[in-house]
Amino acid sequence: MIFDELRRWPDVEAHGLVAVDAADRLILDESAERRASAEPGDIVVINDAYGALTLGAAHAGASGIRTHVDALTGERALEANASRVGLTGRYRALALDAELVNGARIVLLRLPRSLDALRDIAGLIAAHADPHVVVVAGGRLKHMSVSMNAVLSEHFAQLDISHARQKSRVLLARAPRDGPDPAPAAARVEGLEVRAYGGAFAGARLDIGTRLLLDSLPVPPIGGTPEDPYIDLACGTGIVGAWMATQRPDAHVYACDQSSVAVASARATMLANGVENRVEVARDDMLSTRPSSSASLVALNPPFHSAAAVTELIAPRMFADVARVLRPGGQLWCVWNSGLKYRPLLARTIGPTEQVARNAKFTVTVSTRR
Ligand SMILES: C[S@@+](CC[C@H](N)C(=O)[O-])C[C@H]1O[C@@H](n2cnc3c(N)ncnc32)[C@H](O)[C@@H]1O
Repeated sequence: MIFDELRRWPDVEAHGLVAVDAADRLILDESAERRASAEPGDIVVINDAYGALTLGAAHAGASGIRTHVDALTGERALEANASRVGLTGRYRALALDAELVNGARIVLLRLPRSLDALRDIAGLIAAHADPHVVVVAGGRLKHMSVSMNAVLSEHFAQLDISHARQKSRVLLARAPRDGPDPAPAAARVEGLEVRAYGGAFAGARLDIGTRLLLDSLPVPPIGGTPEDPYIDLACGTGIVGAWMATQRPDAHVYACDQSSVAVASARATMLANGVENRVEVARDDMLSTRPSSSASLVALNPPFHSAAAVTELIAPRMFADVARVLRPGGQLWCVWNSGLKYRPLLARTIGPTEQVARNAKFTVTVSTRR
């Protein structure tokens, strides 16, 4: 089977971090009979992590598969896996919008952990899929809750639940109804308008670590130009970038995140604050598209998840990319959970690192590129 050949690369790889799991296998097994009679274009995959669902379906004969992967590293892993197993061209990667699900008859859905994300996805499918669509939605039991049944039931009149297998389960949703297109949650936070589609980090709220970062972060007179914008790395809803843009009304900002839900949210946040002309929002893996030695200021609240797995491997990679992009004398302002003890790592990777704020849970440091 092709599963043995699938990898997470270019996402982090380490012992215990897998590219395919029991929930992927269960979703494919529970949908096999329906997929056998599918026409090209009938099958849609949502939230595939590294391509197991898309390529599992393609390997069984499906073509014209439409796929949405939220994380850019996951989308690139799917591409690399497809070429490794010779299944390139059997799917198209699309954004989470009407084109993805229009007329779909079978949807293979890897359940997101966030109920708001599930609500957005369920609404979108119900709004645009074929009336006879079957949604085969699965996950690991430890990431599932009965609230997911309730959310799916808001938009599907029939819900059946599989037996659990290898600590995984599948929900089968049919008879779509009342589907709205996703709209971002909106809130006013610390004088800023925040917009969040389901699944964006912290929703339309200010995370307590981010709050400590904003309380400390200066908007210096250098940088903030179109060539040297302030950088909001791993921007989530864009709250840090919007804050920097509103603090200095002529400042240019570059905000990026690898999650497509985050990017859509950050774009909506910038529009809501009227700073969209000065803030470029990009879907990027770390700062891969920024030139080396070009930036004066990067702000970062780093992630500690890769797909559903908690891992400490991502932040060191991000710090290394920040070190590449900062010019000598440029600064990284970073907030981190104090238990992670990032200070020596920051000093080693970037340069002299000072603590500027600390509370019961978080530390903010500034590291100056040597
Ligand atoms: C802790 S959240 C911070 C969000 C936002 N800056 C805030 O403070 O509210 C971390 C963010 O990192 C993003 N992320 C994870 N891996 C990434 C990568 N390789 N490149 C860019 N962003 C990434 C996640 O999608 C998430 O939005």
